[in-house]
Amino acid sequence: MPERLAICPGSFDPLTNGHETIIRRGLALFDRVIVAVTFNPRKTPFFSVEARKQMVRDVFPDEPRLEVDELNGLLARWASDKGAACILRGLRAPSDFEYELQMAQMNRHLHPQLDTVFLASEADGSYVSSSLVREVFVLGGDVSDLVPAPVLAAMKARS
Ligand code: PNS
Repeated sequence: MPERLAICPGSFDPLTNGHETIIRRGLALFDRVIVAVTFNPRKTPFFSVEARKQMVRDVFPDEPRLEVDELNGLLARWASDKGAACILRGLRAPSDFEYELQMAQMNRHLHPQLDTVFLASEADGSYVSSSLVREVFVLGGDVSDLVPAPVLAAMKARS
């Protein structure tokens, strides 16, 4: 059987508990998962790409089936060059779907063999996004229940 590789792309600025769960569930479904940390020119970064990659490694220290990489450029080409079977994304709410559907269809237009698999997020974390976590943290709110411990440590070290 050929290896089933999934690419889990995102800004992960920072990685939330929701992201962690989606990656863990991806590891249960696929042989290997590559977390592709992107620089999104439409977003002002809180952490550098290198710091975000390190956070993923810190959250999954003993997972040989997980790789972390930086994605620059077109996701569909990058995923296809790596031989990925699919792109893995989490869906928190119906409002996510419009954007996600558009991206999935564009990626499939670019590389028709590439599928996007959506995993429904846990209901209790559906209101959590990286941008809200950043905003609450910067304004002195408690985000300790929303991000993995190594991420919280990195956020505290940055401020
Ligand atoms: O965590 P985000 O910021 O919602 O992730 C968005 C991401 C990284 C999946 C998207 O911006 C992306 O795919 N970027 C790579 C560039 C690309 O291929 N753009 C065309 C998407 S159809």
